[in-house]
Amino acid sequence: MAAPIIRFQHVKKAFGPKVIYRDLNLDVYPGETITVMGGSGVGKSVLLKMLIRLLDYDDGTIHFHQQEISHLNELDIGVVRQRIAMLFQGAALFDSMSVGENVAYGLHEHYRHKMSDRDIADRVNWALSLVGLPGIEEMRPADLSGGMKKRVGLARAIAVKPEVLLYDEPTTGLDPINTERINHLIRGLKARIGVTSIVVTHDMKSAFTISDRIAMVYRGEIIAVGTPDEIRASRDPHVADFIEGKAPVTEDVTTLLNS
Ligand SMILES: Nc1ncnc2c1ncn2[C@@H]1O[C@H](COP(=O)(O)OP(=O)(O)OP(=O)(O)O)[C@@H](O)[C@H]1O
Ligand SMILES: [Mg+2]
Repeated sequence: MAAPIIRFQHVKKAFGPKVIYRDLNLDVYPGETITVMGGSGVGKSVLLKMLIRLLDYDDGTIHFHQQEISHLNELDIGVVRQRIAMLFQGAALFDSMSVGENVAYGLHEHYRHKMSDRDIADRVNWALSLVGLPGIEEMRPADLSGGMKKRVGLARAIAVKPEVLLYDEPTTGLDPINTERINHLIRGLKARIGVTSIVVTHDMKSAFTISDRIAMVYRGEIIAVGTPDEIRASRDPHVADFIEGKAPVTEDVTTLLNS
């Protein structure tokens, strides 16, 4: 098996007295789609944010290739954020900009003066085509449906040709058809551009459809990780409860640790 491109090792994270991770360990391999599941508030978004250092961690290490994230300076962090693109929960677009300007946003940020207007226009067209929305550059976000907005957000993330894509709840709030469309896109991007993906979701059906592996967060650590079949067959009662929809909706590790 290839070496992991991302490694979380013994990561600890708390907000004041509130412990989110007490021992987070996870390896992500090149080209895989790994889904991180867990109840609301367990720290799924925090996991993604620590990886691109939108949040610092208290202890342990996170490596991207051979680089330890907390050791990087601002310039190197900028490079990491180009190589690891994030589709944020809610996928907020800038309403004052056209769709094309939204998709080009990261290109201006990362390739200032290095790409011609023509190259940028071509790249925006490429990204919009990949998400099945070619030619809508002139439209405004306000004129798009929720599903289209998510796809434009995805086009913005892939426009910089990242090695890794982070999806935070990509299908939340979408109807079944748009959910299926996004799932199909996640699979398709893996096939077409060979991207490595970390997907955060509590949509079980999506997780089992799109994932090479699934990781389950519970009480400040990852309690199970494996292929969809392995997770389905897990004997861990917390995993089984979550799959069957019996898991508590919210988690507060501090309360659990103190109990
Ligand atoms: N910047 C922050 N400052 C203080 N607390 C935070 C911060 N970011 C997150 N938290 C807390 O950390 C916990 C985990 O948050 P996180 O957003 O990772 O949850 P989640 O698993 O993504 O939940 P959801 O499924 O609802 O999105 C929550 O209790 C949240 O309130
Ligand atoms: Mg979240």
